[in-house]
Amino acid sequence: MKVSAALLQLLCCLLLTEGQTEVPDFESNGKSIQPNIWTEVRDIRDMVIELKVKLDMAMKENAKMAEQVQELKKENSGITDQMKIIENQLKGIKKENEEQPKVAFSADLGIRGDLGPQSTEITLTFNNIFTNTGNSYNPATGLFTAPVKGVYYFRFTACGTQSAQSLGASLHKNGQKIVSVGQWRNHNLHRYASNGAVLQLEVGDVVCVKLLPHYTIYDSPDNLSTFSGFLIHPLK
Ligand SMILES: *[C@@H]1O[C@H](CO)[C@@H](O)[C@H](O)[C@H]1NC(C)=O
Repeated sequence: MKVSAALLQLLCCLLLTEGQTEVPDFESNGKSIQPNIWTEVRDIRDMVIELKVKLDMAMKENAKMAEQVQELKKENSGITDQMKIIENQLKGIKKENEEQPKVAFSADLGIRGDLGPQSTEITLTFNNIFTNTGNSYNPATGLFTAPVKGVYYFRFTACGTQSAQSLGASLHKNGQKIVSVGQWRNHNLHRYASNGAVLQLEVGDVVCVKLLPHYTIYDSPDNLSTFSGFLIHPLK
C-alpha cells in the first residue's frame, strides 16, 4: 500500500505541467501534506532492492526444489525397478511352490483282530487309506518310497489287546530299524504305543513299519493302529 501511494505521488509529480512550481496537495486523513519526492524515490528504490533480494531468494529456492523434484523422480524410477525385480522374484517363488511335490499319506492297518506273534519281522500293510497325496505310499506292500530328496516326517501307533502277548512295532528306513515301540505282556486290554521320526530321504528310499518278531498288533474298525507320513520340505 505504501508503495502504490508513493508511486501515485511520483506519477503526479511527473505529470506536472511546465511552469507549475507547486506540487499539488494530497489528501491524507483529511490533512493536506506536501510529500518529499526524493525521500519517496529513495523508499521506492530501497523497496525495489529488497524485492529483488527476495525474488533472488525465491528463485534460488525454486531451483533447489526443481532439483529435489528431479532427484525424487530418479529415486521413484529406482523404486519402480526394484518393485519389478521383487515382482519377478515373487513369481519365481510362486512357481517353485506350485512345482513342489505334494506328498502326504495316512492309513490304518485295516485288520480285525490280532496279527502275530511270528518268529520273523512282518512288514505291516496299512491298507485302510485316509490320505495318499502323490501315491508314494503303497497300501498293498506297506512301503513308502520317497519321490524326491527331502526331509520327511513319519509316525505310527500300534495297539495291542492280547494280555498274554507283547505288542511292538518299529519304523524302518531301507530295511534299517529307526525307532521302535513295545509293551510287555500281562497288561490290560487296549494298550497303545507310538513313535515317530523326521528323516532325510534320497529319491527311492523306502520307509515302512514292521511288526517285531514274537510281538503282536491289533486293529478294529475303530482304526487303532496307524501309519502316517509327509514331506516337510524337499532338498536340492
Ligand atoms: C475307520 O476308517 C474308515 C475309513 O476308511 C472310516 O470310514 C471309519 O469311520 C473309521 N472308523 C473310526 C471309528 O474312526
